[in-house]
Amino acid sequence: MLTRRSVLALSSLVVLANLGVSACNKKSDDEIVVGAFLSLTGEDSTFGLDTKKGIELAVEQANAAGGIKGKKVKVIYEDDKSNATEATQKVRQLIDRDKAVAILGEVASSRTKAGGLVANSSKVPLVTPSSTAVDITTGREYVFRSCFTDAQQGEVAARFVREKLGKTNVGLLFNAQDPYSSGLADTFREHFVKAGGKIVASKGFPSKETNFTTYLNELKAGNPEIIFAPVYYTQMVTVARQAKQLGLSGASFVGGDGWESADLLKGAAAELEGAYFTNHYAPDVPWEHSKAFMTAFKAKNTEAPNGLAAQGYDAARMLFDAVSRASDGTPEAIRVALTQTKDFKGATGILTIDKDRNANKPVVVVKITGGAFTYSTEYKLN
Ligand code: PHE
Repeated sequence: MLTRRSVLALSSLVVLANLGVSACNKKSDDEIVVGAFLSLTGEDSTFGLDTKKGIELAVEQANAAGGIKGKKVKVIYEDDKSNATEATQKVRQLIDRDKAVAILGEVASSRTKAGGLVANSSKVPLVTPSSTAVDITTGREYVFRSCFTDAQQGEVAARFVREKLGKTNVGLLFNAQDPYSSGLADTFREHFVKAGGKIVASKGFPSKETNFTTYLNELKAGNPEIIFAPVYYTQMVTVARQAKQLGLSGASFVGGDGWESADLLKGAAAELEGAYFTNHYAPDVPWEHSKAFMTAFKAKNTEAPNGLAAQGYDAARMLFDAVSRASDGTPEAIRVALTQTKDFKGATGILTIDKDRNANKPVVVVKITGGAFTYSTEYKLN
């Protein structure tokens, strides 16, 4: 049985424990707390790890310059393990436990969709650096992106294949269960057909697919001049290797931004020699305002940045810019300031946030040649 004394001792322990918890969770008034949810492990881990490096550089620069409105920026990172359910939980934690005033993330559209729902219903602004699926921002007043959408990317890919490469007959290969992959295949189809092209074969595969030989053979039977494959890099390495066995060379493929990973080159540079893909950036992009970022990134990380790092940097800086212009430090004031982002000079181009909270900015076409990503051309749509 509990004596009066032990009850007293216990309750003071509880009080102490609570004090301890609230002391560590207490937001210091001289800090701006931002949450970031990323795929730091799991299937698409290079997406999260590369993005994090860009965010870290932006934070370092902001704090070295005295912070924002005299306050230091603190980013709390959470790993969603490349999983949408985890993404939901991590965003909830960042908002409820850490009291983040804004959220950065994710890369893959499927996970931004999940995390964005939580941020939107909690009325905390979220900026995704790289999720391009059209409906990420639709009807969600608190969800923004600092990248273009798949409506823009699909149109550019279609125009590039039709006008620059001069192709008429195209096959489509995509993940039918993924909103990014299937959505981008759809917008490509729409614009390619409108431009007088023909889709001679179209193959959707399930998320867990590892054997693409049958799909590739069926595509081949339609005699396409190009196969448009908006497939994430992990599966694209397998696709490219299996395609080579069937006599399909790199020049037969065009892809989307989901190809962006050093692992694509490590796994299938030879197989993809001569392929093109639409992207946000290229290491040799000829933009004046990208140069300072490249220099600063190399000084901190030794290696050169890729597109994901550049996008992480841009999303963080676009958010910090909004925080610095906001009438106060609340999520609501930051949301309003984000809507007013105009001609923001990013490492991935100059961008303006439109009324649907999407970024209006250029789309780059990258060529895989000599084992590297190289700038080929760019389009600016309006
Ligand atoms: N755009 C992809 C998506 O929405 C993610 C991505 C962006 C991947 C940039 C690589 C590079 O899911």
